Amino acid sequence: MEFELPILSPSILAADYSNLGNQLQLCEKAGTKWIHCDIMDGHFVPNISFGPDVVAAVRDSAPNMFLETHLMIENPDNYIEAFADAGSELITVHLEACPHLHRTLNLIQLNGCMTGVAINPATSLELIRPVLKIVDLVVIMTVNPGFGGQTFIESSYEKIQRLTAIRMEEQTQFLIETDGGVGLKNIQKLVKSGADILVAGSSIFRADDIPERIELLRKKANLGRKDFV
Ligand code: DX5
Ligand code: ZN
Repeated sequence: MEFELPILSPSILAADYSNLGNQLQLCEKAGTKWIHCDIMDGHFVPNISFGPDVVAAVRDSAPNMFLETHLMIENPDNYIEAFADAGSELITVHLEACPHLHRTLNLIQLNGCMTGVAINPATSLELIRPVLKIVDLVVIMTVNPGFGGQTFIESSYEKIQRLTAIRMEEQTQFLIETDGGVGLKNIQKLVKSGADILVAGSSIFRADDIPERIELLRKKANLGRKDFV
């Protein structure tokens, strides 16, 4: 996988579902390389979003984008195959929903996908140490998962910085993603703190001009990378 960092990954949770193909085209036109699908089950999180059929439709509408699926669901093992078959290239599960995390990550790999592990804002980084050498992506939730358009939790910057230090300590290579409340006001500082992938939902899809917003976000993210490197 060769991508230039930082990467902006639009979350379709905030998209206009009656016009999804067109919204994805707008993203593509603005040079979007990754797309983020949020799966919510009404149990692990209080909201319900969509399932594998919609992910397959995203795959068809955006065949060139790298498709990441963020499972905010209980018992993710039961659904990994379906989301892999739908065209996901990376599947993220929540530490808080996985009592047998190695087994779950193994299952994602067996289904031909890259692996991600997400942690909620109140979950300690120490809890993911045992899997840091085997995951491709760590997602630091910067809101409590379940809804788009929530307020970014400010203590997240420090958590990202600590994770970049742990990555050095452990001499490993996973990517760091931030998800929730990302927008023009904080994207530069997030990248400066160590974020490699920035998920943004409402900031992109609620903008009047989607391609223009993507470009602006990317510009600010790139400034943050200069500060970080
Ligand atoms: C939150 C989801 C996010 C969400 C981000 O539960 O995992 O991916 O769509 O939306 P915004 O950018 O609106 O906070
Ligand atoms: Zn997400």
